[in-house]
Amino acid sequence: MLRRTLARLLLAAPALPLLGCNMYTSSCGPAGEGTGEPSKVNQTFRIADLQLADGGTPEPGASCEQLCVLAAPQDNPPGPCSLQSGDGGTPETVTCTVTFLCEGRRPEGLLSDGSVDGRVSALGALFASMAHLEAASVPAFERLARELEAHGAPARLVRAARRAAADEVRHAQAMGTLAERHGAPVPTVEVEPFQPRALERLALENAVEGCVRETFGALLAGWQARCAGDSEVRQSLARIAPDELRHAELSWEIDAWALSRLDEAARRRIQEARREALRTLQREVEESVEQEEFVRLAGLPSREQARKLVQGLAEWVITAEA
Ligand SMILES: [Fe+2]
Ligand SMILES: [Fe+2]
Repeated sequence: MLRRTLARLLLAAPALPLLGCNMYTSSCGPAGEGTGEPSKVNQTFRIADLQLADGGTPEPGASCEQLCVLAAPQDNPPGPCSLQSGDGGTPETVTCTVTFLCEGRRPEGLLSDGSVDGRVSALGALFASMAHLEAASVPAFERLARELEAHGAPARLVRAARRAAADEVRHAQAMGTLAERHGAPVPTVEVEPFQPRALERLALENAVEGCVRETFGALLAGWQARCAGDSEVRQSLARIAPDELRHAELSWEIDAWALSRLDEAARRRIQEARREALRTLQREVEESVEQEEFVRLAGLPSREQARKLVQGLAEWVITAEA
């Protein structure tokens, strides 16, 4: 049923060579506390590309805060920023803290944020952050497999989690290759040492990171596999999308198994965490930066399209929980 729902939502994705795949950037920092704040990364913009609302250009002495409001208007007030000067001593680029939509499974205790320092292109930063998230999913699934085994889960769920960890290694390599093409180094994943967890905590993480974020990630991957104007991005995502769909299904199977072992109060807490994760995702869609540059190449949905995808996912969640 999940497969059918996601396939129906993806029917709205305009397949190439149709244009109008208004894209929208995605990158993946650490999970915030609980259901998390939207992810932030540093992104560098060429000042010459920035425009005022009336079509004019920014004042020569504009501060990085003023420039960042132009570059990423969703992030107002802007976060930490800096100016970089060229050979003549005049500022040429501005680095802003921008909000990105983040999809995929992040392990509890993820310390690294996936941001790329230095002057890399926006696409480079995007792919490096995506590679970072894929790499972070490896320990997330390895841990999940060990915990499922320790909690007596069916062997097929343990095997599926191990297989997913191996999938994520390939995904990280594929995204890393795309980042490399754009000269962006992939940030190292740092995770706090894992401690044994109660089943409810495992189930809470799975509800947020798996049933919501990774399921939305499966939707995004499917969308990008159709929409990305860059054929290498399209091919990479076409290989990743079926795996992500399987991971989304696994999340829901783990959810069903875990809920069957928990009491009513714990089930309610998990349901509420999942609803809150959906609200966070909706907020991220509204706050994330949209860049025309990614429209042609990375294949991500426009804000309006992403809204519909999140809405479709929210409707699915309500049905699945009923
Ligand atoms: Fe992945
Ligand atoms: Fe995944």
